[in-house]
Amino acid sequence: MNTSPSIPATSSNSPAAGPSETIGTSETSGTSDNTLLRAHAVARDAADPLADCRSRFSIPEDVIYLDGNSLGPLPNGVAERVARAVTEEWGTGLIRSWNNAGWVDLPAGAGAKIARLIGAEAGNVMVTDSTSVNLFKVVSAALALRPDRQVILTETRNFPTDNYIAEGVIKQCGDRHRLVHVDDAADLTDALDENVAVLMLTHVSYRTGAMHDMKALTKAAHDVGALVIWDLAHSAGALPVDLAGCDADFAVGCGYKYLNGGPGAPSFVYVAPQHLGGFRQPLTGWFAHKDPFAFAPHYEPATDITQFLCGTSPVLSLVALDAALDVWADVDMDALRSKSSALCDYFIHLVESRCDGHGLTLITPRDAAVRGSQVSFTHETGGYAMISALIADGVIGDFRAPDILRFGFTPLYTRFVDVWDAVDRLAIILAERRWDTPAFHARKTVT
Ligand SMILES: Cc1ncc(COP(=O)(O)O)c(C=O)c1O
Repeated sequence: MNTSPSIPATSSNSPAAGPSETIGTSETSGTSDNTLLRAHAVARDAADPLADCRSRFSIPEDVIYLDGNSLGPLPNGVAERVARAVTEEWGTGLIRSWNNAGWVDLPAGAGAKIARLIGAEAGNVMVTDSTSVNLFKVVSAALALRPDRQVILTETRNFPTDNYIAEGVIKQCGDRHRLVHVDDAADLTDALDENVAVLMLTHVSYRTGAMHDMKALTKAAHDVGALVIWDLAHSAGALPVDLAGCDADFAVGCGYKYLNGGPGAPSFVYVAPQHLGGFRQPLTGWFAHKDPFAFAPHYEPATDITQFLCGTSPVLSLVALDAALDVWADVDMDALRSKSSALCDYFIHLVESRCDGHGLTLITPRDAAVRGSQVSFTHETGGYAMISALIADGVIGDFRAPDILRFGFTPLYTRFVDVWDAVDRLAIILAERRWDTPAFHARKTVT
C-alpha cells in the first residue's frame, strides 16, 4: 500500500447512491487532493464519451457491479429477443425456425460480430461449445500440426481449466507430450525451444489482470517453430485485440464475461486462415462434417471454420449472445481502452489513499499498458469475508482462492462515480471491521 493519508470513511451504509447524490464526508474533510472528492468522479462521468452506453444495460439501481469480468449484466433487448425465440420461433415456427429464423446461421453470425472485437476476419471465428471444450479442440489441432514436438508450454498460474484440458489432451494422445509450466511469465521466452509444439497462454491473467505482450510472445514462439493458442476470456470486450496483426494461430474466449452473453453463454474459437483445412479437430460431430445433411456414413471434415462445430448448437443461449453482441456495433475500442485504464487507475488510487493499513496488497500491474480491465488485491486472511461484506453492501466483486479480491472494470456501464462509491463502501467496511463476522467468512459453493 502506498502511504498517502487516509480519508476517514464515514459515508452512509445505504445502497449505491446515484451520481448526483453526495455521500460520505470526503467532500468536507478538507483534503487538498481533488481526486478524492466524489465531485471529481461526477465530473469525469460528465466528460466520458462512453457514458451513454450504460443505458444499453439493465443494471439494478442498488448495485455497483464490478464483476462483469465474471458474468456480464443483461443488455437491454436481450430478454425480449430470447422471449421471441421461445414463443414465436420455437413455439410457432417449430423445426422450421432452423432455416426460417436463421438458427443454423447463429454460430457463424455471432462469430462475425466477435471477430471485429478481436482483430479477426468473420470467417475465422465460430461461436460454439464452452471455452474448455474449444481449448480441447485447438490444443489437439495444434499438436497435430507439430507431430514431432513434445511440449505444451504454459504458466503455472494459467486459469485451471486451460491446464487441465492440456493434461487431458496429453493423456488422450497416449502420454507422448509434456505440459511444461513456468512460474514467472518473464521466463517464457527462455523456455521456448525446438521441443515446444504449442505455447498456450491466457492473454490477461484472471488472477492479477497482468497482460502478456501478444505480438512479442507469438513471434518468439514462431521463431522456434511453435504455434500459439491465446485464451481471450479476459480480453475480448475488455480491450482491443489484434489476433491477425499478431499472427496468432488459435484463440478461444468466453461469451458470458465482457461479451455479456448470459450465464453459460457459448464461447468462441478463432483459427488463423493458414491453418483452416490443415488438420482435424478431434470432436468430429456431424455439424463439423462438410455436408451434415447428406447423412453420409463416414466423417469428412468441413475445411472452413465450421469444422469447429461439433453437435447441435444451444439455440436459446446463442440467441441471447448474438443479441447481446449488438451493444458493440458502434463502440470505439480505443475509447473503451482508455476509459478502462482510467477506471482501473482511479480505483487503485482511491483504495491506496483510503484503505491504507488494512493489509490489502495490490497484485495488479500499476502500468496500464500491461494490464487488462481488472484490479486485484490480496489479503492474507480476510479476502473472502471482505468481498462478502461488500456484496452485502451492494458492491459486487469476487474472490479467487486463496486470497484474491478481484474487481472488474467494464467501461460500457461502469461510471467513475461507481468506483468512488465502491471504495467508499470498502473503506467503511475495513475501518469498522464489518467484514470479520462468521456469516461473511462462511464460504458459498461459487465464489
Ligand atoms: C481464462 C479463463 N479461461 C477459461 C474459463 C472458463 O471456461 P469455461 O467457460 O469452459 O468454464 C475462464 C472462466 O472464468 C477463464 O477465466
